[in-house]
Amino acid sequence: MNILLLGSGGRESALARKLSQSPRCTQLWIAPGNGGTEAYGTNVAMSPLDFEAIAQFVDGNAVDMVVVGNEDPLVAGIYDYFENKPVLVVGPSKAAAALEGSKDFAKGFMNRHGIPTAAYETFTKDTLEAGCAFLESLKPPYVLKADGLAAGKGVLIVPGLDEAKAELAEMLGGSFGAASSKVVIEEFLDGIECSVFVLTDGNGGYRVLPVAKDYKRIGEGDTGPNTGGMGAVSPVPFADEAFMQKVEERIILPTLRGLAEENLTYRGFIFLGLINCGGEPKVIEYNVRMGDPETEVVMPRLKSDLVDLLEGCAKGDLGDIPAEHDPRTAVTVIAVSGGYPGSYPKGKEIAGELNPASSIVFHAGTKRDADGRLLTSGGRVLAVTSYGDSIADALAHSYEALGHISFEGMNYRRDIGRDLMKL
Ligand code: AMP
Ligand code: GLY
Repeated sequence: MNILLLGSGGRESALARKLSQSPRCTQLWIAPGNGGTEAYGTNVAMSPLDFEAIAQFVDGNAVDMVVVGNEDPLVAGIYDYFENKPVLVVGPSKAAAALEGSKDFAKGFMNRHGIPTAAYETFTKDTLEAGCAFLESLKPPYVLKADGLAAGKGVLIVPGLDEAKAELAEMLGGSFGAASSKVVIEEFLDGIECSVFVLTDGNGGYRVLPVAKDYKRIGEGDTGPNTGGMGAVSPVPFADEAFMQKVEERIILPTLRGLAEENLTYRGFIFLGLINCGGEPKVIEYNVRMGDPETEVVMPRLKSDLVDLLEGCAKGDLGDIPAEHDPRTAVTVIAVSGGYPGSYPKGKEIAGELNPASSIVFHAGTKRDADGRLLTSGGRVLAVTSYGDSIADALAHSYEALGHISFEGMNYRRDIGRDLMKL
């Protein structure tokens, strides 16, 4: 099977590696890919949002299946664009992708289908006063969410009421552009988060992939601003059988039933951002793709053939295709550019051992220059994944490997997984 993978981050590196390991993968292209994805396939300089160029490439290269890494093409409707063309696309339809593309739609969907989530209301410029009154009815801290896609930055958690009201006015005034023309205000939920990934074929067939936890803040001890993700761990000790049974009964099955009832075509990955509130799972958010950096631990823990699974999804019949989990622990630690998530320099040369014996180094923000030198080209630069018998064991390998890699300004968190080791 000839496969085209769209995206350029650490997530796509991990998907590319897993796809390339399948005996069913004949050719793999990654568009646009990064400085490391050529180890698994061929990079193609093409934007994941340029559907016409993608269609031409698909025709010209006899691509059988398109796998979409990031949300933007899905929310923009790539599934629908290719629906009547002779190529499989893994993902949700544009209408279903609104589960990620609109927080208001996602909250409404959860309410319609009785899926546990934080209480909420949605406001616009015309209902600012009602929004302020709603804030007054809530306990601090206050959670304000831009309705639309805001590159992972559209959620504010504000300690004070006056500050929350001021933020609401700013958001509705356009501080996140069109994404915040509607703002969801919701009850703050206290607990530990985890990410659950489900593959669905849109016809009742589904598989639950390994559960992961990511580390979003830049600073150790979960301090400082949010990032795209500084590390991840899988499995998650508190996501035990009893917890996962609740997730399946109260969240996964009602979500799949809801999609069917609302005629929302969905043949791909569903990412459930969950929070464990005293043993009770609640949904913080839906995403319509895999997580990054979670994929860098989830794919290494998937023992089964990803091409079989994705083909089953895209054809609408997962049948009895297995999704076996590796019992080992996997962790990933992200090396980021100095200054990230604020402004940071690019073009720093990356030196050291990028193929260590005991770890997998996934590239994220890297590129090769004309002379083949490897340079930084983004905030998150590398994801260093390792297996172990425990979180501590796996981490020791990743930190050892990071000790042999360097670039100017390189930064990473030394406390990934530490909170889970205490549980
Ligand atoms: P989201 O983009 O919706 O995942 O939100 C980003 C982050 O904000 C989440 O990963 C949580 O850490 C936090 N968050 C979002 N909603 C809530 C909530 N209702 N209560 C507590 N934390 C939240
Ligand atoms: N790691 C969270 C995300 O991919 O949105």
